[in-house]
Amino acid sequence: MKLLVVGSGGREHALAWKLAQAPRVQLVYVAPGNGGTAQDERLANVDITDIHELADFAEREQIALTVVGPEAPLAAGIVNVFRSRGLKVFGPTKEAAQLESSKDFAKAFMKRHNIPTAAYETFSDATDAHAYVEKNGAPIVIKADGLAAGKGVVVAMSLEEAHQAIDMMLADNKLGDAGARVVIEEFLAGEEASFIVMVDGKHVLALASSQDHKRLQDGDQGPNTGGMGAYSPAPIVTPQLHARVMREIILPTVAGMEKEGIRYTGFLYAGLMIDAQGNPKTLEFNCRMGDPETQPIMARLKGDFSKVVEHAIAGTLDQVELEWDRRTALGVVLAAYNYPDTPRKGDRISDIPAETDSSVTFHAGTQFVDGKLVTSGGRVLCVVGLADTVRGAQNAAYETVNRIAFDGMQYRLDIGYRAAGRKQ
Ligand code: AMP
Ligand code: GLY
Repeated sequence: MKLLVVGSGGREHALAWKLAQAPRVQLVYVAPGNGGTAQDERLANVDITDIHELADFAEREQIALTVVGPEAPLAAGIVNVFRSRGLKVFGPTKEAAQLESSKDFAKAFMKRHNIPTAAYETFSDATDAHAYVEKNGAPIVIKADGLAAGKGVVVAMSLEEAHQAIDMMLADNKLGDAGARVVIEEFLAGEEASFIVMVDGKHVLALASSQDHKRLQDGDQGPNTGGMGAYSPAPIVTPQLHARVMREIILPTVAGMEKEGIRYTGFLYAGLMIDAQGNPKTLEFNCRMGDPETQPIMARLKGDFSKVVEHAIAGTLDQVELEWDRRTALGVVLAAYNYPDTPRKGDRISDIPAETDSSVTFHAGTQFVDGKLVTSGGRVLCVVGLADTVRGAQNAAYETVNRIAFDGMQYRLDIGYRAAGRKQ
């Protein structure tokens, strides 16, 4: 069978890599893909991004299953289009994707269904928003309502920063429509974790736990990025916490959507903040897998993932039991010069070490130009190491990192430090 993965990042490379391992899968197309998916002979890039053209392609090539990676095509309705043409696709509909594409939708939904999250209010008027932060004080969090490619959240440690963020979004319209409404919410302290499940409309299948590092620099300092590294499992997610997140957040979300007439299908990612007492609250929902969380998660997943996706599309996820490599997988992102602002493109990338049992490198912002691999985006590669301990996985990952080079390469040296410091 032939499959299709939509997207071009490290997440999509890891999904396609995993799907292609099944003996019954002949080929996985990746649209549009990257340098890594171009190189792998079990994968093939397709230079299409328009969702109707993708549906034409899936029909023509008799694609058995399509998995959608990023939020943008989901929010644009790719699942609606594929389904209306009888094509099998895994992801949420446009309506269900509002859990990610509108912060206001997500917050109001959580309030209606008593799902733990930060207190908030939504504003479209700058004067009212300024008055609200004056009344509530800092730290406080300002979020653009719409999709803003990671630039829509300002965690304001001072009132000045909060006022600036409001002006940037509501007065100066720097984020366009995405920032025409803002959610202002209570600052939550604690440790973050990524809780990702697969949903078939009714049943929920949890993936292995994970955590990512959003800040650019060591010690979780510097600007927010799409993610500088991630690992799985996340020791903070104990079996007790896992059960609680399922009971208090995930299951009520799926049931609540169903009650409101929007069946949720697809990956569902709850970004959690876990306070010092171990209580989880929902920071956000994503209607997709995490990037870079997918890379270590897929590196640990055993068995035929295409069958899991098939069950998810058929509504029979209750029949699936996932099996995981017991080792820790830890991914280090290698980013381009000047990431996250305006990453430089076109830097020549050295040879990348071949995959082994303890290390695999997924591509993101890479492409071949005149037969040479060069950088083409902010996050360039994600090097995953696997070992029995967090420290061992760090060693395995960094050993490979040390053999890769390109001009301006930036990466963190401390991915996994929280997990390494926690007793496993
Ligand atoms: P979001 O896209 O909503 O997950 O926000 C991006 C990042 O901002 C999160 O991963 C957190 O690090 C931070 N953040 C978001 N909301 C809050 C909050 N209420 N309190 C503290 N930090 C937050
Ligand atoms: N790693 C964060 C995200 O995928 O949203």
